[in-house]
Amino acid sequence: MVVTAVPEEDRELAELAARAAALRERIEQANYEYYVLDSPSLSDAEYDRLFRELVELEQRYPELRTADSPTQRVGAPPQSAFPKHVHAVPMLSLANAFSDEELRAWEERLVRLAGEDVRKAGYSAELKIDGVAVSLVYEGGVLVKGATRGDGTVGEDVTPNIRTIKDVPLRLRGESLPARLEVRGEVYYPFALFERMNEELALRGERIFSNPRNAAAGSLRLLDSAVTATRPLRFFAYGIAVAPGERLPVDRQSEVLELLEEWGCPVAPYRQRCSDLAEVVRWVQRIETEVRPQLDFAIDGVVIKVDSLPLQEDLGVVGGREPRWAIARKFAPDIAETRLLDIRVNVGRTGVLNPYAVLEPVEIGGATVSYATLHNEALVLAKDLRIGDLVQVKRAGEVIPQVIAPVSDRRTGSERRWSMPRNCPVCAAPVVRREDEVAWYCPNEECPGRRLESLVHFASADAMDIRGLGEARVRQLVEAGLVRDVSDFYVLTPEQLQELEGFGRRSAEQLVAAIAASRTQPLSRLLFALGIPHVGSVTAALLARHFGTLDRLMEASESEIASVHGVGDVIARSVSEYFAAPRNRSLVERLRVMGLTLEEPGGVPGGGALRGKTVVITGTLPTLSRQEATALVERHGGRVADSVSRRTSFVVAGEAAGSKLAKARELGIEVIDEAELLRRVSEPESEHDVQ
Ligand code: IVH
Repeated sequence: MVVTAVPEEDRELAELAARAAALRERIEQANYEYYVLDSPSLSDAEYDRLFRELVELEQRYPELRTADSPTQRVGAPPQSAFPKHVHAVPMLSLANAFSDEELRAWEERLVRLAGEDVRKAGYSAELKIDGVAVSLVYEGGVLVKGATRGDGTVGEDVTPNIRTIKDVPLRLRGESLPARLEVRGEVYYPFALFERMNEELALRGERIFSNPRNAAAGSLRLLDSAVTATRPLRFFAYGIAVAPGERLPVDRQSEVLELLEEWGCPVAPYRQRCSDLAEVVRWVQRIETEVRPQLDFAIDGVVIKVDSLPLQEDLGVVGGREPRWAIARKFAPDIAETRLLDIRVNVGRTGVLNPYAVLEPVEIGGATVSYATLHNEALVLAKDLRIGDLVQVKRAGEVIPQVIAPVSDRRTGSERRWSMPRNCPVCAAPVVRREDEVAWYCPNEECPGRRLESLVHFASADAMDIRGLGEARVRQLVEAGLVRDVSDFYVLTPEQLQELEGFGRRSAEQLVAAIAASRTQPLSRLLFALGIPHVGSVTAALLARHFGTLDRLMEASESEIASVHGVGDVIARSVSEYFAAPRNRSLVERLRVMGLTLEEPGGVPGGGALRGKTVVITGTLPTLSRQEATALVERHGGRVADSVSRRTSFVVAGEAAGSKLAKARELGIEVIDEAELLRRVSEPESEHDVQ
């Protein structure tokens, strides 16, 4: 090293520059852990502190600011228009296949063009994210530009907006990176956050977005990137474009995805290297029926790519637009049009009033839809839905059907506007709205509508699971004056039931037996069945396992409850308030007298072969369903998490395990199979632990 005399100020500036660089690296590492790995290592407070320090440094010394600084994620000054961006490598679109036959025809064409080698090369099958295509230009590993697809040749330079997307790496993590490369991918808007944004927009009387794709496109094309920064956009990478002549260190598309992950880019979960088209077809089927309904982002199909990159090059592009080597297998449409016959309101067990649509029955994706949720009053008004409208209805997998929008140009003038009734439709109590909430409530705790819903919930399959005690029966029991609260179920006699319409001797005895059998349900189910606000089945299981008995939970302080892993302050307060109320304490006493199990088997602290373990389950296990495997882990004291992080104890991987398995390997986390899981939970020491 050459040592020269450095003026004092320069030395100081060099030190500050080093500090700024260290801050940038730490903050970006924290972003990566939080948004890509789903495994934060910094507390929010510490993150904020580091971030503020960097902002102040850069404000005082603007020369220290860099293009890859995380401070650039908060947005730049508004622009008046987007500059044009010419893509170095064109952004292609895809041909579609709407059936398996069309997929086979595609393969036949490839074989005719490139010979039987195509079949041997295998395919990379990936989710087709329904968002907005973007190209991210990296030079020397640093993000220098982000552009939309435009017409495929020229797009819009939306760099300041792209920088606000938290999981877009501002700097890639690889070593031997090409000098310049473009990461291709899709910007999308997660479902849950989309609905929340629409609610907020509706509440402020602003225009809402009709779907997450439009929300992503709209947010990405805002001239004020500070507003984009408030939108929770996310990104998935699916390809790399390099200048002609440059080569990537891999020769398969499936390896491109791995490379992207190594560089720190988020890659969509679920992808599969398939050795032949039959495997592709099976995978598509699984994604459409099992995976799509559970995803928190929209997909409109699966993209199938010839896995070999040299073969892709041989196959080339048709008409400069669509590659021959890839095809989109689109899913059946999940939207249909039908008539909105009426808007009615249902009273939930917490008193919340839910408007729902009564529809002219219509078939969507193989099921008949007659009702759809309308969420809340603000959304009905923002969508300007009127009774009598022709409406677009969407049904996605298991999700409750939704009314997307009216077909306004088909109006006749006879449609009627709707607004939330000012009185509860069941008990006529004046409805109330809490500050900052969109929902209206019936405040009457004695409201028969609320009471009925609580009783139905208590008996439902995920709660006490009392067979034969559905909504109609519960209604009948309430109307006959036999049941007021859930403890009354347990004193019903076959003789009383036989007097009611529709009961014979056998069915009356069966129902009484089913109710009696529910006494042995574990505490976790009872806690969920009680309908404590904010306590879903997962929280109920956490509480039951942690405290072991209802008495211990009832004695616990709010802070003790909040200290349970996975239980937040809001839940803790709700639980604590619930058990402080005399009417709830007396209900518990009545249930105790009726002989209900107020304990969690295996939930006594210290027990369970998997106590304290965080387990991730991925892929298809040979004998256990996902639900069964989860229940097994939980029964032995473990916790099942959705994503792999450094805190994961081990991963149980089955067939076709995808990115979670890859991430586990990357982080060096133990991976076991189902057989090993079963062995672990049957080890003798666990027998001592489980009571
Ligand atoms: S490959 C071959 N892979 O679908 C070049 N595209 O109609 C085409 N898309 O706008 C891109 N997920 O942005 C590819 N896993 C995926 C994709 C995907 C979504 C979008 C893409 C493009 C459109 C093609």
